[in-house]
Amino acid sequence: MTTHDTTDNANHPIALWGGRFSSGPSKALAALSKSTQFDWRLADDDIAGSRAHAHALYRAGLLSEKEYADLSLALDELQKRVDDGTFAPIEEDEDEATALERGLLEIAGNELGGKLRAGRSRNDQIAALIRMFLRRSARIIAGLLLSVCDVLIKQSKNAEDAVMPGRTHMQHAQPVLLAHQLMAHVWPLIRDIQRLIDWDLRANESPYGAGALAGNTLGLNPEEVAKELGFANVCANSIDATASRDIVAEFSFIAAMIGVDISRLSEEIIIWNTQEFAFVRLDDAYSTGSSIMPQKKNPDIAELARGKAGRLIGDLTGLMATLKGLPTAYARDLQEDKEAVFDQIDTLEVLLPAFCGMVETMKFDLQRLKEQSSTGFALATDIAEWLVKHGVPFRNAHTLSGLCVKRAEEIGGDLADLTDNDFANILQGFVDEPNISELRKVLSSEGSVAARCGRGGTAFVRVKEQILEAETKVNNYYNFANSISDGIAYRSSAK
Ligand code: ARG
Repeated sequence: MTTHDTTDNANHPIALWGGRFSSGPSKALAALSKSTQFDWRLADDDIAGSRAHAHALYRAGLLSEKEYADLSLALDELQKRVDDGTFAPIEEDEDEATALERGLLEIAGNELGGKLRAGRSRNDQIAALIRMFLRRSARIIAGLLLSVCDVLIKQSKNAEDAVMPGRTHMQHAQPVLLAHQLMAHVWPLIRDIQRLIDWDLRANESPYGAGALAGNTLGLNPEEVAKELGFANVCANSIDATASRDIVAEFSFIAAMIGVDISRLSEEIIIWNTQEFAFVRLDDAYSTGSSIMPQKKNPDIAELARGKAGRLIGDLTGLMATLKGLPTAYARDLQEDKEAVFDQIDTLEVLLPAFCGMVETMKFDLQRLKEQSSTGFALATDIAEWLVKHGVPFRNAHTLSGLCVKRAEEIGGDLADLTDNDFANILQGFVDEPNISELRKVLSSEGSVAARCGRGGTAFVRVKEQILEAETKVNNYYNFANSISDGIAYRSSAK
């Protein structure tokens, strides 16, 4: 390839501005302003942007064929150096864009390298790069979430028709299938994946070409640039394109919501894993010990997941506060958008695989779940509804069933321990010749569960149906997770 003299710029700091300044930036300003410590991860997207932009300059007649070819080769070389680590930001580089421009000038020389900046601004660049990065991340996170859905579905299938106590207010409420309870955590995750897919439609517009705020005078075609960067469209308003970060905030909300959803299942697992509950045992590979108490086996993954939900929410909250009340065009405050979402992405990328492993390997004590499922008068509603089927108004049925609970408490047993006489005494005057043995049939968890057979109910047939429904969706969403959001400018890089 043709490279121009490169020695001049090697490792020498450059500034992207300075013509009107008589002094360089103070050390304190430079330290505050610098963002390479977190925005360097946008380097690949930046180079892809440069590739597409060079193409646009060429198409507009602002680069000759040879200049375009040389610049493209220089960008290949720059990508290679970024990949193998021979080029990296130096202390004085303000941001990833400044560093990469320095790198390009090193390779292509000041004259050719200096032509690339025409018609673009870091304002439209950075707005495009964050979208490109987040679109790729959305697919990775969707893939990790799908794995969590897969293992939850597998656990639900393994549980077959096993019953467990369902709770409201943390108190025994009604028996449910274990599979039903587990699937109750799959659906929110499915919606989180749907949110990512839906978010991607809005993120799929390119800010490139918006310039600093008003567009550019050079006749560059933003549609072509958008296509080469993997965007379906160009933002309709250049001010909006550079100034708004609702796309970033929406992504951040989804990340926070994922944290919240995972933390709810975590809390459940932590409780189920206590000695008192003893519903579930965690695999050794996914639990930790105590440095002082040899007997301890702790659910740290679930606790970290619960804890990290706070951090994910904090990232969202900080970002929203940054965006509130900003004037509507680029302001440097917007540089603060990145760390919030990068932290969320890093957090989820380390959390979800560990969480997935814990869920996949945990073992339920089905016998204990069954034993507990009908305790705590969990079948009182079933008595009330049995009475309703025998013509008793629900208000009375509720009271009568309550009297059964009271009697059970008196005799120190559960509802099934009431004698036929007990039932007959309570029900007399409300049901003519009550068939107590028929009533006793609803006094089993299995009977109770099987009777709840409307759509969404906990009856085995319905649970099997929802598992199938969820599985179909999950399989389908892998298409999104495996799709590629990057355009040819990214893929044609030297990597
Ligand atoms: N580093 C900035 C950011 O991340 C982009 C640079 C825009 N700077 C400027 N002075 N216009 O938002």
